[in-house]
Amino acid sequence: MKKNVAVIGVGAVGVEIIKILKERKFPINNLRVFARSRRSIEIEGEDYEVEAIEDSDFSNIDIALFAGTEGEKGASVLYADKFVKKGAVVIDNGSDFRLKKNVPLIVPEINKGEVIRHKGIIANPNCTTIQMVVALADIYRTFGLKEIILSSYQATSGAGRKASLGLWEETREVVENNKDKDFNCLAKKLSGPNRVFGPQIAFNVIPRIGSPAEDGYTGEEWKVVRETHKIFNDRRIKISATCARVPVFTSHCESIHFTTKENASLSRIAGVLNNSAGVEYSGESLCFPLDAEGKDPVYVCRLRPNLYRKKSFWMWCVADNLRKGAALNAVQIAELLL
Ligand SMILES: NC(=O)c1ccc[n+]([C@@H]2O[C@H](COP(=O)([O-])OP(=O)(O)OC[C@H]3O[C@@H](n4cnc5c(N)ncnc54)[C@H](OP(=O)(O)O)[C@@H]3O)[C@@H](O)[C@H]2O)c1
Repeated sequence: MKKNVAVIGVGAVGVEIIKILKERKFPINNLRVFARSRRSIEIEGEDYEVEAIEDSDFSNIDIALFAGTEGEKGASVLYADKFVKKGAVVIDNGSDFRLKKNVPLIVPEINKGEVIRHKGIIANPNCTTIQMVVALADIYRTFGLKEIILSSYQATSGAGRKASLGLWEETREVVENNKDKDFNCLAKKLSGPNRVFGPQIAFNVIPRIGSPAEDGYTGEEWKVVRETHKIFNDRRIKISATCARVPVFTSHCESIHFTTKENASLSRIAGVLNNSAGVEYSGESLCFPLDAEGKDPVYVCRLRPNLYRKKSFWMWCVADNLRKGAALNAVQIAELLL
């Protein structure tokens, strides 16, 4: 049963994958770790030799978990097919393959059966999509869904390790520059480099993630629409999203407005949420990003009706974007392959 496993990328997600493989006692015969450059790294007191991917041989790997960056120069575009040709099954965290026909897009709580359709590559959805669909899955199954309107408040680690470092450095700079000043002008305004997001993120909110694409929605917002349609295999759900970046290191928050097809009462929806796989519904108690960090569930609170629209409800949802939003979901897919 033991597998030869590779992890590609040792940024925010890659490191989390290595931790989760260990934590869940994934049966590993040999673990190889790749990034752009060769070096040693330490994760939770254990040393790992990172191989430079360019010079490496990918033979004899059963499962390759990709957590490199996206796009032309990203690890998956450059190397996923090479791993597949050598016999590995690739599980990719990026967006390069998610909407391709022969690539299953898997959230195990929802569509694990699809995994057998893979032709070598399986995709992990975007972090924003995963937590939303996990929260809505059983509501969809029980009452149907006509419409979803999402507003996300996304943590900096969603944009990788450097982005969180950027938040840390900006915050320190603002505090150090303003030690003797009144707090009203405290956050204004940094100069110089380290602008990972363009605008300052420390003490700020950036109301758009990525550049505007079709109809003014960004790529991040379109991911929510298209990936949700693919995961639920239902393109009739009307979905629109607004994705914003907030100065939080880890765990995305989402305000989700949804309209069901069938009649649904608050108590029935609460009952469904209480029994939903991967969901922790906290009723009146609030859920916070600080509490979700390092944890597996998708937390849901603040369920309430839209008083002006029939069959319409609000909920607040929080999950660790590096775990259920990425690394944990990828490892759960690897567990399905076992
Ligand atoms: N962060 C999240 O919450 C999140 C959630 C869902 C999905 N994702 C996706 O997961 C992937 C990883 O994200 P991340 O946040 O971990 O990024 P990150 O912190 O920026 O780390 C990227 C890692 O990928 C490696 N890498 C980049 N290009 C490579 C290449 N051509 N060959 C080999 N390795 C390469 C880098 O290597 P070096 O260290 O050598 O530079 C680095 O270790 C991305 O596709 C992202 O879209 C992220």
